[in-house]
Amino acid sequence: MKHPIIEDLSWRYATKKYNPDLKISDENIEIIKESLRLVPTSYGLFPLKYIFVESKDLREQLRPKAWGQSQITDASHLLVICSHIELDHDYIDGHIELTANTRNIEPSTIQGYGNFVKTKIGEMSAEKHSDWNAKQAYIALGQLMHTCASLRIDATPMEGFDPTAFDKILDLEKDNLKSVLVCAMGYRSEEDNTQHLAKVRKSSEDIFEVR
Ligand SMILES: Cc1cc2nc3c(=O)[nH]c(=O)nc-3n(C[C@H](O)[C@H](O)[C@H](O)COP(=O)(O)O)c2cc1C
Repeated sequence: MKHPIIEDLSWRYATKKYNPDLKISDENIEIIKESLRLVPTSYGLFPLKYIFVESKDLREQLRPKAWGQSQITDASHLLVICSHIELDHDYIDGHIELTANTRNIEPSTIQGYGNFVKTKIGEMSAEKHSDWNAKQAYIALGQLMHTCASLRIDATPMEGFDPTAFDKILDLEKDNLKSVLVCAMGYRSEEDNTQHLAKVRKSSEDIFEVR
């Protein structure tokens, strides 16, 4: 199929080895950041925080806690997608206020919606609530993959890391955060043989169904 979207998605692959000398431009980082800001989340609550780890020292500490994967230290940029552990009533009130300010309406006109969200979240166990927040990170990752591909920036979505160790190294818990996903971004090394491998995907017949 020939379409720019399909070309982007066919071009990308989970990069295993980066060229450490090639850096993403500030301009492209701004596009990536705006794409990450525009990510949709459940109720629009955005229970996410994006941490770009620039410190060489931190990246060296993180690498052994990510199966020693070289992308952690060698990619131009390393993003840790974090989610909030818990959203309290103040957080939801803050979202209602933001919505009212953005749309220039009285907060009282949407307070009923805020109460509905509080009730729905209140029905969840602490573990389910934290997991539900974390699921939103995957939406960000998906959008990020496509944004990077459109910019012809290589990216590696990564779950191969020890979240407990990452949380400790990045001191996340004190900010009510936990690490969910990592994404390395930059430019592939010519030596990365993965780039030459054919994409493995199931056939359309296998994955689509009409009922
Ligand atoms: C949530 C998630 C976690 C992943 N974790 C890793 C990882 O830790 N290291 C890695 O090299 N690739 C990782 N991958 C890449 C997948 O193995 C890869 O996307 C898949 O095999 C399909 O290949 P492609 O992305 O090159 O098309 C991950 C992908 C996803 C979506």
